[in-house]
Amino acid sequence: MTDTKRVAVVTGASRGLGRAIALEFAKEGFTLALVARDAEALAQVAANCEKNGAPAVLPLSENLKDPEAATRIVDVVLKGLGRIDCLVNNAGDTKRGDFLDLSDEDHLSGFALKYHAAVRLCRAAWASMEATKGSIVNISGVGAHTPEPDFTVGGPVNSALINFSKALSKRAGASGVRVNVVCPGHIVTDRLSRRIETHAEAKGMTFDEAQEDMRVKAGIQRYGTPEDVAAMVVFLCSDKAAYVQGTVINVDGGATRGI
Ligand SMILES: NC(=O)c1ccc[n+]([C@@H]2O[C@H](COP(=O)([O-])OP(=O)(O)OC[C@H]3O[C@@H](n4cnc5c(N)ncnc54)[C@H](OP(=O)(O)O)[C@@H]3O)[C@@H](O)[C@H]2O)c1
Repeated sequence: MTDTKRVAVVTGASRGLGRAIALEFAKEGFTLALVARDAEALAQVAANCEKNGAPAVLPLSENLKDPEAATRIVDVVLKGLGRIDCLVNNAGDTKRGDFLDLSDEDHLSGFALKYHAAVRLCRAAWASMEATKGSIVNISGVGAHTPEPDFTVGGPVNSALINFSKALSKRAGASGVRVNVVCPGHIVTDRLSRRIETHAEAKGMTFDEAQEDMRVKAGIQRYGTPEDVAAMVVFLCSDKAAYVQGTVINVDGGATRGI
């Protein structure tokens, strides 16, 4: 195993995609720093990561909307674990709904977590990642490519994150740092369940009917699993992806129809 002494930082690791990404890194023998607000859920994920093979796990209960959180996290990780090889910016909570129902606060809050926290963590970790020739993966979403009227916060946040990531990959130059983006499609997490519930309510359907209706409209054979996304993220952080730089990869079962 080549990744035994590597350290990965994963945000939004208390559930959903972040949890699966953490568990996948653990299987590869990474030491982990896991970030989210829910300390109890993080402790459970940390214990499972240790069972899965992580030599050590540092759970960090932080609200990433706090502008000081990124520097605190990087300081604690470097003091406790000594290095950062991989940074996965996954935390996100952009609100869906009709444009006219979304407030300034909804827009600002969406950007505060998924965009600004990612930017701050990239900045705070950059020097350390140059030292390790590390890999950053920013989790965007297919809404970046296909704007939807009920996703006027998330779509722009996801597009901004791609633009930023591409710029950062160019800045990386010869430093050895790689910066890539993964865009999940319809992945089974609490977030997707909330979306199906809203669809069911709007259409007067049961949860199962709404789930099937959304699947057919998305043009996918099945919903994705968090493990489908985690496998791609950990691959991008591995030496096998050494020549993959500044790219955007959809993990969406073919939902994105355009090129
Ligand atoms: N699921 C999908 O189908 C899908 C599709 C496209 C894109 N994505 C993107 O993938 C990422 C993960 O989505 P998910 O479905 O796994 O979402 P999720 O199940 O709602 O999990 C979100 C994670 O972010 C953390 N988080 C939320 N607010 C936070 C804050 N203020 N500070 C720190 N951590 C915070 C949550 O932990 P705490 O509540 O403990 O803080 C949780 O661990 C998001 O960026 C989302 O936009 C998901």
